[in-house]
Amino acid sequence: MYLKISKFVAFLTLLSIFTTNSVFAQKRSSADTERKINALIAKMTLAEKLGQLQQIDGDFPTGAARPEQFEMVRKGTLGSTLNVRGAKNVNELQRAAMESRLKIPHLFAFDVIHGYRTIFPVPLGEAASFDLKAAELSAYIAAKESRAAGVAWTFAPMVDIARDPRWGRIVEGAGEDTYLGSQFAWARVRGFQGTDYSQPDRVLACAKHWVAYGAAQAGRDYSTTDISENTLYNVYFPPFKAAKDAGVDTFMSSFNDLNGIPASANRWTLTEVLRNQWKFDGFVVSDYTSVMELIPHGFAKDEADAAQLALNAGVDMEMVSRFYNQNGEQLLKNKKLTVATIDEAVRRILRVKYRLGLFDKPYIDESLEAKTLLTPEHRKAAREIAAKSFVLLKNDNQTLPLRKNIKELAIIGGLADSKEDVLGSWNGDGKVPDAVTLLEGVKNKLGNNTKIRYVKGCDAKCEDTSEFDKAVDAAKDSDFTILVVGESAAMSGEASSRSNIDLPGRQLDLIKAVAATKKPYAVVLMNGRPLTINWVAENSPAILETWFAGTEAGNAIADVLFGDANPGGKLPVTFPRSVGQIPIFYNMMNTGRPFDASNKYSSKYLDIANTPLYPFGYGLSYTSFALSNIRLSSTQIAPNGSLNVSVDVHNTGSREGAEVVQLYIRDLVGSVTRPVKELKGFERVELRAGEKRTVTFTLKPEQLGFYNAQNKFVVEPGDFKVWVGQSSVDGLESSFTVK
Ligand code: NOJ
Repeated sequence: MYLKISKFVAFLTLLSIFTTNSVFAQKRSSADTERKINALIAKMTLAEKLGQLQQIDGDFPTGAARPEQFEMVRKGTLGSTLNVRGAKNVNELQRAAMESRLKIPHLFAFDVIHGYRTIFPVPLGEAASFDLKAAELSAYIAAKESRAAGVAWTFAPMVDIARDPRWGRIVEGAGEDTYLGSQFAWARVRGFQGTDYSQPDRVLACAKHWVAYGAAQAGRDYSTTDISENTLYNVYFPPFKAAKDAGVDTFMSSFNDLNGIPASANRWTLTEVLRNQWKFDGFVVSDYTSVMELIPHGFAKDEADAAQLALNAGVDMEMVSRFYNQNGEQLLKNKKLTVATIDEAVRRILRVKYRLGLFDKPYIDESLEAKTLLTPEHRKAAREIAAKSFVLLKNDNQTLPLRKNIKELAIIGGLADSKEDVLGSWNGDGKVPDAVTLLEGVKNKLGNNTKIRYVKGCDAKCEDTSEFDKAVDAAKDSDFTILVVGESAAMSGEASSRSNIDLPGRQLDLIKAVAATKKPYAVVLMNGRPLTINWVAENSPAILETWFAGTEAGNAIADVLFGDANPGGKLPVTFPRSVGQIPIFYNMMNTGRPFDASNKYSSKYLDIANTPLYPFGYGLSYTSFALSNIRLSSTQIAPNGSLNVSVDVHNTGSREGAEVVQLYIRDLVGSVTRPVKELKGFERVELRAGEKRTVTFTLKPEQLGFYNAQNKFVVEPGDFKVWVGQSSVDGLESSFTVK
């Protein structure tokens, strides 16, 4: 039986229909609140003001505040902590804040990236669902659990566009595409914040990392970025703008150097774009010690210089390093800082504390935490969303799904038995024992009717091959083998870049050894980035990409392997054939010499095709779909007009399933060159066997325009191509003209 969407999901779907309209944007501050804030600022000493600009780290493992933090909070010289969490810990420190002279509530932050206690798929995996309701729901559940545990502010979503799979943090975002990334940014902010983040089941979100952090040179974390302003506007800014439009009230300034001005001291991005152009009135927090790091960047000569550069540029709150506090007074005396600048930063932070409702309700109800975390409902949602995130990369001769009455099954690979790895990187307050492994999931599904032979073979590093023979024997003795390979969770995420994105260690040899038995098998991948798996793609009969699927990973994988759920995910990022092709993404420019097999002097490699191993938007299903009858409501529109593109989608196979119908356009001639294809719409459609439905997309000026050479958003007259397809490399084609 196909897993039915739970009532809870349906409720959320309804809820969001009523909240996605922009008239329901996050509540803004009233003139009265602004007056209160100004009155409070007028009472504050310099030390108290600088205290509001400071965030420091609690004890990560326990979630407790440190003795120094109690002292500072009581004195009114610390406004925020990160990693202090748990209802009791939070209320304890908040009591200290209420004992301070001005009783300004403390703000508790934590990295809730893909779940607080109930862990959902890593964000890249969740993006593969192409399901915005799923993203909104997982963020909502994460918010509900976080707030119950006292966390009012999450450092999420990460909305960095990432086109380099060597970069380990590609796992934390929605992948390579600006449109998809913007849609997920919006959905995730809405999931976290709703339309009023003072509610007890919502948290304040943070769009990070502002900006261009995902474009680190050579894919090495923290590395420099050098990107034209026009590319920033067209590619890297839009997901942040979408987050802003969804009501996000904090941004995090990134670690990277951007065009020679580090992002954490970049007045153009922090003030000109964010505040002046976008009218953002929340606050910016530095990424960890990024204020301090202005010194090794070679941008600030000392600590005081770093403080004034960051604060004057628009970084309001300093995380971990304490240069604002240590140098503020001196900087004022030396006229390197003004009181007005400090006051404005304080004002922005207090404004958000007001919007959080902390002044009215500083404490949280301690009875909520235990009842809210990891409920069966949350686990159920995690399981459904995980199944939606899987991408079936290959399935020759319907190798999958497997029959549940299979007699003997081999499961090979250390990742099949690892609770830790399925939780992925940045797993909030997730607990390893909560996680369901693939092995457990399959056992849960099959009960005692199947003999399961589990052999580790090797772990994700796969340096030791001593168990390979045992693995081969298990495969030989069984009717089918599930081979689980990929990366450990620690191989992606922060500070986890790789120069080689093959399967680590000797894993490919393990696959080849199992393949040599000639017995049937399927490869299940767990990984946080695209991998170069050419041999597997060529030779293995079936490949299921499961990313790091979270607490319910094993049950969700078993649902898909045994056909209780049908995979419908699509790649949110290109899988290259070789690291030599990087950066490789579908929406590239055409060049003056696009590839032409008959022309030596066309854009290509001598040793490898230009094409990826698996393209953006690609993914198979256990059923089959056909698209037909593309039609446009009009073939000529005005620059401010819009048009509908419709297509019929038909489930031509024999089981229920989901297809992600994707709309791409190409603006054929532009005053700045335009990509060969750009995603501008998608819809994940669930269809019963034989069912046919019409999907209609509306192309509006927002989708048809781009930022021109003056970085002004324009829809230019001219011809457009439009495709509706099942990936970025296929589709029905049509065209229209903007006149
Ligand atoms: C550094 C990371 O870059 C950022 O994403 C995170 O939110 C902060 N540390 C706080 O943990």
